[in-house]
Amino acid sequence: MTEILPEKNEQYGTKEYWDQRYSQEPDDSSFDWFKSYADIADIFREIIPDKNARILMLGCGNSRLSEDMYDDGYHEIVNVDYSGILIEKMRQKHEVIRPEMQWHEMDVREMALETESFDVAIDKGTMDAMLTAKADVWDPPEEVIQNCTREVDEVLRLLRPGGVFIYLTFGQPHFRRRYLTREGTTLEIRQLGEAFHYYLYILRK
Ligand SMILES: C[S@@+](CC[C@H](N)C(=O)[O-])C[C@H]1O[C@@H](n2cnc3c(N)ncnc32)[C@H](O)[C@@H]1O
Repeated sequence: MTEILPEKNEQYGTKEYWDQRYSQEPDDSSFDWFKSYADIADIFREIIPDKNARILMLGCGNSRLSEDMYDDGYHEIVNVDYSGILIEKMRQKHEVIRPEMQWHEMDVREMALETESFDVAIDKGTMDAMLTAKADVWDPPEEVIQNCTREVDEVLRLLRPGGVFIYLTFGQPHFRRRYLTREGTTLEIRQLGEAFHYYLYILRK
């Protein structure tokens, strides 16, 4: 499908952009940022050996990641996105064929979900959308820092002890490590790809 591009990059950081994009797209369209499940399935199966793990998908969009993981045996997936238009379309698309998957209109900075109730949280491109402020990437505005910090605070609240946060991004460690360094956690960083690199940040609680 054709991607509906914003006029300015920083629009990726607004709910209005995403609502408009998802309302204009046909109901059955899908778009996967950076990587598809096929590209990363081996790594995910290694990091998430238990197919019964309870998984939180942060800013699910209309990516096929959740459905492909579901079809690979991970049925306990809770999807959240702050675009209500998107969530409704995704629920209608999947509720009959993938009944165990849940869909919630929710902001990743404040999620009405039970503390320590997830084994895994996954972010593919969502923190990146919040980071597209029009500013110096070396010195992001305070609001952007707070948004990313709030997301990671929420993820750490929702993960059980021993849980893992997997973040897939194009963002290099210099620009992302600051949001992912927390006392009592460990951070592993893997580089993916050969020509253009993506990074997998694996934060363990
Ligand atoms: C770049 S897309 C990534 C979509 C999907 N994860 C993927 O891999 O293709 C970012 C998604 O995050 C959502 N999003 C951005 N900020 C959010 C927030 N604060 N809370 C919830 N969802 C958010 C957007 O609506 C959009 O669906």
